[in-house]
Amino acid sequence: MEKKVDETLLERKTSWDGQQLVKYDGFWFSEMFFRQILSAQNHFVAKDSDVILSTVPKSGTTWLKALAFAVANRGIHPNTDRNPLLTSNPHTLVHSIEINLFHRENPNLEYLSSSTSSTISSRMLSTHMPFEILPDSIRESACKIIYVCRNPLDQFTSLRHFLIENRIKKDVVPLGLDESFDMFCDGIHGFGPFWDHILGYWNAHLENPGKVLFLKYEDLKEDIGCNVKKIAEFLECPFSLEEEKRGAVEEISRLCSFENLKNVEVNKSGYVMDGLLKNSTFFRKGEVGDWTNYLNHEMAERMKKLMQSKFEGSGLMF
Ligand code: A3P
Repeated sequence: MEKKVDETLLERKTSWDGQQLVKYDGFWFSEMFFRQILSAQNHFVAKDSDVILSTVPKSGTTWLKALAFAVANRGIHPNTDRNPLLTSNPHTLVHSIEINLFHRENPNLEYLSSSTSSTISSRMLSTHMPFEILPDSIRESACKIIYVCRNPLDQFTSLRHFLIENRIKKDVVPLGLDESFDMFCDGIHGFGPFWDHILGYWNAHLENPGKVLFLKYEDLKEDIGCNVKKIAEFLECPFSLEEEKRGAVEEISRLCSFENLKNVEVNKSGYVMDGLLKNSTFFRKGEVGDWTNYLNHEMAERMKKLMQSKFEGSGLMF
């Protein structure tokens, strides 16, 4: 049944970069995408064969898109020297449901059914929507979801740089580090609170690991080969012995590596979202623990306590 929302009743706040945030069903959304999210909730119809890539922004979306695209399409792009990832930004190869597809109230998505993949026959799409907010058909169909999360201290650091670099409200001076960290710890950031976002997918993974693959950015950094294989197995297109022998896992890992993608021309000079976001800002440092260069001991302690209280009993650790 179509959900109707009286937007005038929703709480609103100004984010640290001046964007308006609106609170809906316990989560904060940028006003820019809010209508699109409602529209997707009401109209997006998942197919059992769909693959949905989900993240909180700045948790490794770009990397996940590259990896899942390369794994799923290795049948038609076996040669990593001629892979579309070398000429297109990952965000233009895997479209976001709420950012790219639902500009219009109820877009015709039929064209997506003849999608690019060959190793698996499916549409691959992405979202930042929390699990609870996903269109019902994503949760209820047999489609698969891959989720990546990241240590919130690094995610915050990455987000802050990204929002300052891509200032959408050019006339607004962003809030300082302390104030923006306060807001982040209060869960007031696009698609936040981060802990509820993470827990939603974590619990869904525990309930049905065949539907939701739960990955961590830090684990990908530690052992990318193992995770590339994990993604392939989850998508039911495991690497054959012959592929493994000829180094296909390592090739994909290398193709999607930070160092490689950062230096691809389109990622150095191009833009996404109608020129709003520089591709280069999706490739900043790509490190684990960069937060130590920006946040002090008190901030780290505060986050540690926050995570302990939010994730207690969940089995989740960062
Ligand atoms: P940093 O800002 O810490 O460098 P998202 O893709 O969700 O927007 O997240 C962006 C973060 O992922 C940025 O983190 C970016 O540098 C990092 N990133 C992008 N591509 C990556 C890759 N191929 N490997 C590792 N990290 C990557």
